[in-house]
Amino acid sequence: MPRSNPALAAQHPNPMFRIGALVYGRDDILHLEFGEPDFPTPAHISAAALTSITNERQGYGPGNGIAELRGAVAARVQRVNGFAPTAEQVVMTAGGTGGLMGSLLTLCAPGDIVLTPDPGWPGYDAMLAIAGVERAYYPLLPERGWLPDLDALEAAITPRARVLLINSPSNPGGAVYPAETIAALVEIAARHDLWLLSDECYDELAFDARHISPASLDSDGRALTVGSFSKTYAMTGWRIGWVVAPPAIAPALGLTTAAQINNLPLFVQRAALAALEGPQECVAEMRASYRARRDLATGLLSERGLLEYTPAGAFYLLVPVARAAGYGADEPFDTLAFAEALIAERGIALAPGMAFGSRTARYVRVSLASAPDVLRAGISGLLDFAATWRTRP
Ligand SMILES: Cc1ncc(COP(=O)(O)O)c(C=O)c1O
Repeated sequence: MPRSNPALAAQHPNPMFRIGALVYGRDDILHLEFGEPDFPTPAHISAAALTSITNERQGYGPGNGIAELRGAVAARVQRVNGFAPTAEQVVMTAGGTGGLMGSLLTLCAPGDIVLTPDPGWPGYDAMLAIAGVERAYYPLLPERGWLPDLDALEAAITPRARVLLINSPSNPGGAVYPAETIAALVEIAARHDLWLLSDECYDELAFDARHISPASLDSDGRALTVGSFSKTYAMTGWRIGWVVAPPAIAPALGLTTAAQINNLPLFVQRAALAALEGPQECVAEMRASYRARRDLATGLLSERGLLEYTPAGAFYLLVPVARAAGYGADEPFDTLAFAEALIAERGIALAPGMAFGSRTARYVRVSLASAPDVLRAGISGLLDFAATWRTRP
């Protein structure tokens, strides 16, 4: 047989797939593993999709997205992200996922290096492999609430570096990068002539700090802004998001996106338009719920002396599970084995820290998108189980 793409053969299956396979669809499990809002998609959004299916032909459409929606995204970006793109700079994509994949394929040639955060969203791994790029990691520091170490980032930049990928509000740490950090990242990208690919899928989920988009500080057209309907509007399964690209890049990004999906379904785009143009109270209500859940979760950790930081956004909390289990800093700890045993013995699912990189190998990630009673029982159960881990047979 001919060989397949060796970059993919070298990919290790992400531990999150393993956790997903163990618990997907099970209602006997307390689900704290995935970043999936437990709210339904607001009714006016679903209604717009049904109206479109009933009244409109669902044919091929423009590869970049329908003009009304691109205009509405441009207006939303001005409102939320603090800069004013034209509709021509907006490319509608199959979620933030499609936006990130399309951007990497547009910006990089095989052999280029992409600077990525450690810890970071595991979804980047296969994208980078498919794009044929290499990665250089820059650290996010637990002692700084998972903000980037800018000196270490600069030290990781080499001549083949092409893209600086950043993610704020962040997964898995939940950090919201302050304005000075974003300004420094923009400055570093400019000084080293890098594209700045900004994953802002959680931009409306900032609780304590204001979200700042790098593109609002970018003076020379090197920042791309990836956005999504998934988290803000509880639309994970609808698969729609966008990229706002500098004018010089937007046409190529449109080609890359059309090559992958041709076009997004019209009814999905109508739903997205209703999300942007309809009432925004649902966004504020969901944000307030996530914030209350964040406070509940940090309170539970604090009671046991295990709260290391308070996430300012997104809906995740990193729990120092090795410490909770009484392991010293130099004693090995296997978060995947722990997460699997927690499912088997306590019916609690969460994300093992090693899924996100080397720096979270002694942590587990709890999703705060789960209901408060699930969170309370899940976190208490997790900490009780951790206390028994070292001495169990
Ligand atoms: C950091 C980050 N970026 C992007 C995505 C992709 O989301 P979607 O493709 O649903 O927009 C996710 C999903 O969990 C994420 O956590």
